[in-house]
Amino acid sequence: MLFWIVFLPALACSSAVLGNRTDLPFFHGHVFENSSPSSRVNGLSVPVKRLNSQRLCAAEETGALQTTVHFKLLGNGSDKFRVLAHHKRGHILLKTSEVLDREERAEYTLDVGLCCGLCAEENEAEFPVVASIKVDVLDTNDHQPAFTTEDVKLSLDDATALRSSVYALTARDGDSGKNAEMIYFVVPKNGSFYAVPKTGDILLVDSILGLDEPIKFEVFARDRGWPPRTSRSVLVQSDEPLLINVSEDAGIGSVVMNLNPVRFQTAAFELVEPDLESTPVSVSRDTGDIIISRRLDRETEPLVEISVKVQDKRGKKRRGVTCGAPGSPVLRVRLGRRLIE
Ligand SMILES: *[C@@H]1O[C@H](CO)[C@@H](O)[C@H](O)[C@H]1NC(C)=O
Ligand SMILES: *[C@@H]1O[C@H](CO)[C@@H](O)[C@H](O)[C@H]1NC(C)=O
Ligand SMILES: *[C@@H]1O[C@H](CO)[C@@H](O)[C@H](O)[C@H]1NC(C)=O
Ligand SMILES: *[C@@H]1O[C@H](CO)[C@@H](O)[C@H](O)[C@H]1NC(C)=O
Repeated sequence: MLFWIVFLPALACSSAVLGNRTDLPFFHGHVFENSSPSSRVNGLSVPVKRLNSQRLCAAEETGALQTTVHFKLLGNGSDKFRVLAHHKRGHILLKTSEVLDREERAEYTLDVGLCCGLCAEENEAEFPVVASIKVDVLDTNDHQPAFTTEDVKLSLDDATALRSSVYALTARDGDSGKNAEMIYFVVPKNGSFYAVPKTGDILLVDSILGLDEPIKFEVFARDRGWPPRTSRSVLVQSDEPLLINVSEDAGIGSVVMNLNPVRFQTAAFELVEPDLESTPVSVSRDTGDIIISRRLDRETEPLVEISVKVQDKRGKKRRGVTCGAPGSPVLRVRLGRRLIE
């Protein structure tokens, strides 16, 4: 049942006429989402005296000594609440009739309808409306942050400036307020990268010069709700070494790939590892061409790994190199071979 019964002494008959909606007494309450059914709507206490019910019902049932007054909630969402009367205090209050979800609906504006005598299952329009009630559904931290991106591959080179942002990650949270405020952080914390807690910008904070392995780290977002919730991580990793397959039949002097364009307008390329004698390729200093310099033999050398140094010829004008090391960026190229059948 959506109503409770109040007994009120009938007063002298008066021709009470309800004003339009702007004249209705208005009440405002709130309840936390996920509260169990029958939770009270807080901050809401509606004195029955203000609802004009005595006069309305007395007007309808002239001469009755006592009128039975019922209240009924009307409007979109009224099935989510029950109206009850605290008869000793002459107040009516609302309780939830089911578990509410703020993310589904954050507020309800309901009418309190009045029926004198028994509330029949009539058309809602036949109950005079005596009050308007707004219920806010308050947030609980029931959503965990989630990143808007999948795992990330970063293209980093050793010329990336320290403290520069290399990526911006964003997480979303279905909750509101503090429950949706994000703190970003990187694991491992002692690595070369740092997440700006408030923005999710990923900064390079330590030199990555000459590292052999691709760099991997995870970024998490945690909300500021209580208890806080933490997102699943996004895995960020730098590029794998470039791997290209070269046919065993490739002729001496043929170009297997070109390392340009790089981020510098004019660059010089230099093979740093291994030395020229032990590798079957050479690197053209000015063009970045990788050139076959001797016959390839798949049986003795199925994989060749070389490191190429790329230097910005503009020297002093090189932007953003604050790694401190005098060395230049290193590209790494691995050459595999494929037999042509
Ligand atoms: C409702 O009442 C207000 C003042 O009480 C009045 O200004 C307004 O015109 C009325 N609206 C209607 C639709 O009767
Ligand atoms: C009830 O209100 C909700 C949210 O304001 C709305 O999405 C829905 O369409 C409404 N339903 C009806 C029957 O008006
Ligand atoms: C960070 O700390 C962990 C454990 O203390 C250690 O294993 C790891 O090598 C460190 N990483 C770096 C980049 O210093
Ligand atoms: C190189 O060859 C291997 C094995 O045949 C293959 O899996 C790989 O995709 C090839 N890589 C490129 C870049 O063609």
